[in-house]
Amino acid sequence: MTKTLRAGITAIGAYAPAKVLTNDDLSKFMDTNDEWISTRTGIRRRHVAADDEFTSNLAVSAVLDMQRRYGEEVLEGVDMVIVATNTPDAYFPSTAAMVQNYFSLKAGAFDLLAACPGWVYALSVAQAYVESGICKKVLAIGSEALTKLIDWNDRSTAVLFGDGAGATLVEAVEEPFGIKSMILGADGEGGKYLYARATGKSLLDGTEITDHVYMNGREVFKFAVRVMNTSTIEAIEQAGLNSADISLFVPHQANLRIISAARERLGLPEEKVVVTVDEYGNNSTASIPLALTHAVDGGRIKSGDNLLLVSFGAGLTWAASVLTWGGTK
Ligand code: ACO
Repeated sequence: MTKTLRAGITAIGAYAPAKVLTNDDLSKFMDTNDEWISTRTGIRRRHVAADDEFTSNLAVSAVLDMQRRYGEEVLEGVDMVIVATNTPDAYFPSTAAMVQNYFSLKAGAFDLLAACPGWVYALSVAQAYVESGICKKVLAIGSEALTKLIDWNDRSTAVLFGDGAGATLVEAVEEPFGIKSMILGADGEGGKYLYARATGKSLLDGTEITDHVYMNGREVFKFAVRVMNTSTIEAIEQAGLNSADISLFVPHQANLRIISAARERLGLPEEKVVVTVDEYGNNSTASIPLALTHAVDGGRIKSGDNLLLVSFGAGLTWAASVLTWGGTK
């Protein structure tokens, strides 16, 4: 009998810049305070890339962390590098090609842009490559230097974001491990609620904008709560499971209230949710792989666990997946 080829995550690594800004640090140069930020978002600190630290540097550091965990040979045979990012070092060449070059990989390389769910989208591409036989070993990275795009005069967005990177290796694993479901969606109608453009007029109110993040927080909040509920339920169903079968919920780390609403809707207890938003803020594509790495380090994931991943972001886009952890190195 021929076995179904199933892709899974076999190695991980993560990195966050050394520089940290607490809510109190922010309140020294903008009209905000720890109480407002922490009660509305759950964020207490965020890691911020240094002036000479870019998305490619963060991505490389996450892969170096992977090598530290599994040995340098972990990268042997990598035949594709995907970097999901909203903040590439340049329009071109791709950040992924910079990573490929740093590690001298004999691999293809490209960037993927799907806002915060970008890393889950990259996971889906890696899954398709591996399960179709196009690639054997895909490095799927989420890396973000979002604070370089922030308008530090806009307190409603500046307090939310941080920088970081997470790297995952995707390759074939044996049953019962691997990716069991993948839900991907987009609604471009809502693009006007969250965007960053180099120059031009605001889609919302016609004001001149330069290069910063522009967000209608309330609309994004409503969208996020709705789509986190629907897409997680779809992902669990597609995997042929129930909420009770989920061992750990690893959501996009944008806002603790959004995470809690999704958790309650799924009927999951607090101990089944990974929360890192307090330490990192929203670092977009890096948030889920970084949270996964934390959960592994904290001994919260064991072989055979069913993980539920979900993310939402600009586009508007969303992605959810269930995978069974294991079959690892
Ligand atoms: N400090 C103090 N006060 C502030 C701050 C701040 N940093 N920011 C805004 N305020 C003020 C506002 O000016 C407003 O004052 P007003 O009532 O006098 O006008 C008041 O606080 C309330 O503002 P709201 O917008 O109503 O606050 P809300 O409770 O909606 O929370 C928030 C705002 C946290 C941004 C919330 O809407 C949210 O989390 N939205 C989702 C954002 C998100 O997840 N984005 C990431 C998407 S992922 C991606 O693709 C990047």
